[in-house]
Amino acid sequence: MDFGLTSEHQLLREMAYKFGQQEIVPGIQERDREAKSDRSILEKMGAAGLLGVSIPEAYGGSGTDYISLGLVCEELERADTSARVVMSVHSGLHSLTLLQWGTEEQKKRWLPQLASGSKVGAFGLTEPSAGSDAISLKTTARRDGDSYILNGEKTWISLADYADQFLVVAKLADSGDKPTFVAFIVDRTLAGFHSKPLKGKLGVRAGNTGQIFFDDVRVPADCRLGEEGDGFKIAMSALDHGRYTVASGAVGIITACLDACTVYCHDRKVQGEEIGRKQLVQQMIANMVAGRDIGRLLYYQVGWMKNAGLRHTREVSMAKWQNCANAFKAANDAVEIHGAYGYCDEFPVERYFRNSRGAMIYEGTHEIHTIVQAEYELGYRSDKPLKVTLPPFEGA
Ligand code: CAA
Repeated sequence: MDFGLTSEHQLLREMAYKFGQQEIVPGIQERDREAKSDRSILEKMGAAGLLGVSIPEAYGGSGTDYISLGLVCEELERADTSARVVMSVHSGLHSLTLLQWGTEEQKKRWLPQLASGSKVGAFGLTEPSAGSDAISLKTTARRDGDSYILNGEKTWISLADYADQFLVVAKLADSGDKPTFVAFIVDRTLAGFHSKPLKGKLGVRAGNTGQIFFDDVRVPADCRLGEEGDGFKIAMSALDHGRYTVASGAVGIITACLDACTVYCHDRKVQGEEIGRKQLVQQMIANMVAGRDIGRLLYYQVGWMKNAGLRHTREVSMAKWQNCANAFKAANDAVEIHGAYGYCDEFPVERYFRNSRGAMIYEGTHEIHTIVQAEYELGYRSDKPLKVTLPPFEGA
């Protein structure tokens, strides 16, 4: 077992950190305040090669391992959650799932453009009446010759207005009480597709979120991912990748809280003494440090399992569950340490507080992961070997 990061990892981490500080942090207060997402950041992420991290060179990616993806997510979320969300939906939920489930022809058709950022991918599973209970989704696909006709709607879709293509999960129209789920790559230019932004979010206000609608959208059959009947498994394996990016990003929020609190603890004085000398403040700082360091171990383990081609559904659920809870606690404590200054957006910690709350809801709520962990331990749930696996890292 090797806990050390390679020099390649360290360089990538440094590059992602600098990118975040130079391209994301400037203007974030205004974009967050005005709920305005800046598409040019997405384009810059593509130009910097960030959207091709962990995609093999054969498909136009950087050929780096899966730990690299976690490191990038951590450093981007240290700047702002909206940038990490781009990695979650484009790289995690969309591109890695395509790498796992696509035919050779599909991977060659789509991955190079996704890796370069010339095309942006997103994910559509959640519906107005199917969130945690994903199996209740209502979007239908009806086979018609060489195509499927899609009808339905998806909600809470990150990058709904920006993505060029969506990994969408539907059920066969005539599959009755035991639905047959099917997954597709749906191009937004197809007739009958449209999107609408969602307004009024508590957090991640600098990110684009919306609804997507399918009104008799004719999707060519060669855009189906996997076989008919694989759709739910594809959705769940997409979440294995998405949850990894959320878990690693959550560590970045904790680091950002520590960055802000360290400065404030030295600057702010009470009766001539830095507040960092106060033991109740030190307790909160120590908890943040524990959350950051334990969080890294949890996501490094998942990255290592991905590199080795091992199934990691249980471990990634644990990492996502614990890291998101610890990020929210760190952000709450960061507000506490800043006192009244933590309650306004002059300081970044109130944004961390709002942004970290969302991650306890999306990609499996705090409660879903609690139940999943208990079920594994009690033997009600176990992981079988997968029919189709994410390719292990070639250099592993
Ligand atoms: N990889 C491949 N296959 C998997 C899998 C995985 N990770 N996990 C499960 N499967 C397979 C199982 O083996 C099983 O196959 P068989 O029927 O052949 O045995 C099948 O899928 C069903 O799995 P489960 O029995 O585990 O399903 P369940 O009904 O018990 O799952 C649940 C319940 C865990 C709560 C699941 O529904 C769940 O995770 N819900 C949360 C959904 C979620 O996170 N949604 C957020 C989406 S994010 C989004 O939409 C917004 C955005 O843009 C980011």
